[in-house]
Amino acid sequence: MVEYKFPKDFWWGSAASGPQTEGTFDGDGKGENIWDYWFKEAPEKFFNQVGPADTSQVYHTYKEDIQLMKETGHNTYRHSIQWSRLFPEGTGEVNQVAVAYYHNLIDELIANDIEPFMNLYHFDMPMALQEKGGWMNRETVDAYVHFAKTCFELFGSKVKKWFTHNEPIVPVEAGYLYQFHYPAEINMAHAIQVGYHEMLSSAKAIKVYREMNQDGQIGIILNLTPSYPRDENNPEDVKASVIADAMFNRSFLDPSIKGEFPSELVEIVKELDMMPEIQEDDLKIIKENTIDLLGINYYQPRRVKAKETPVDHEHGPMPDDFFDNYEMPGRKMNPHRGWEIYEKGIYDILINVRDNYGNIPCYISENGMGVEGEEKFRNAEGVIEDDYRIEFVSEHLKYVHQAIEEGANCLGYHMWTCMDNWSWLNAYKNRYGFISVELDKDYKRSIKNSGRWFKKVSDNNGF
Ligand code: BG6
Repeated sequence: MVEYKFPKDFWWGSAASGPQTEGTFDGDGKGENIWDYWFKEAPEKFFNQVGPADTSQVYHTYKEDIQLMKETGHNTYRHSIQWSRLFPEGTGEVNQVAVAYYHNLIDELIANDIEPFMNLYHFDMPMALQEKGGWMNRETVDAYVHFAKTCFELFGSKVKKWFTHNEPIVPVEAGYLYQFHYPAEINMAHAIQVGYHEMLSSAKAIKVYREMNQDGQIGIILNLTPSYPRDENNPEDVKASVIADAMFNRSFLDPSIKGEFPSELVEIVKELDMMPEIQEDDLKIIKENTIDLLGINYYQPRRVKAKETPVDHEHGPMPDDFFDNYEMPGRKMNPHRGWEIYEKGIYDILINVRDNYGNIPCYISENGMGVEGEEKFRNAEGVIEDDYRIEFVSEHLKYVHQAIEEGANCLGYHMWTCMDNWSWLNAYKNRYGFISVELDKDYKRSIKNSGRWFKKVSDNNGF
């Protein structure tokens, strides 16, 4: 019996990105991006020294992989177009081999009744643009808009769901505050400028998309980490959680949907004297070009408390000057990757979007469970028995179901991810897929228990 039945035409599938799955750094004319460069310069930073060229090789195996997607119940799949594959220099000449590749991938998905969702930026700045400042440089916004327009022209007749960015807060925090993306700076003023340029680039791409009269939907994918105060009755804890929410969620959520940055955040940035460079018309463009569709990535909540001991950071202000993270006693942790598991967070996000963001159409664009050392769960038949992942997904889906019952406009669920893939500095450490990929066995694929389970969920439109 299907106890949790989802609305008709619900999107079932998974998400991945070009740089994490395709492999072949310089194969077929692909240019260098920041990951290819960083791995070349500092391989020791990457887990087990596995680099981006050595990922799941989907570039070569996409046809077989799409058959595995069918076997795991996909009716939709998100990928990203690698900027440095289409434009090896970030701008200029289009790589025609890449054009053919993405056409083939999209055609193969459609031929197998899997709707392609395409994202334009998943942390993969072409190195030629990074050398000129990357997102710090306003010219990158123009180069990005040209890249976006080219993608709409080339693939817009086939792809009807577009996303401007995946998790735009991540290049901000990882690249300019916490040093786990290149250029690994610690500089709050740069972080703010980078975030501003990403947001501007998103609005400008949406403007172009609408001017081209494309008949699809365009949105953005945000990783939302609902902020919970240590003590709801302590005004200082509550204030800390409001600031964390403004910095890490509303910084992109508000301008993407309401066309305006949150006033709390603007006040903080002004106090820090770190307002980004804003040109005439920028804010009008952001105001007028909001999204049609919101992708929500949810992994874990953020628990915060009032700042207890101020720290004098060597490199100037940091977000944690405004709040402390709080390790709530008794919280449930993923024992295989140190992130909290709080299933109700997904419900809280959907209800927040329903109540405070006009109930805009949205879907869960990533949710998943990373597991280090997952080989130990492989049985004698060679199948990974990832029943912990089935539990993780089903417990989250129950809350998605509840939110929909209560009116949330949630249209689908994508797990992160389809094939085990390469994940930045963590490389192949944490496995997330429905399908296992064994690097040392010529990238051999095998469907995990969760993949078989998901097929049934998709076929029954519930579980
Ligand atoms: C998501 C990103 O936030 O986290 C993915 O969109 C990433 O690109 C995933 O791979 C998992 O991260 P990690 O560090 O656990 O491998």
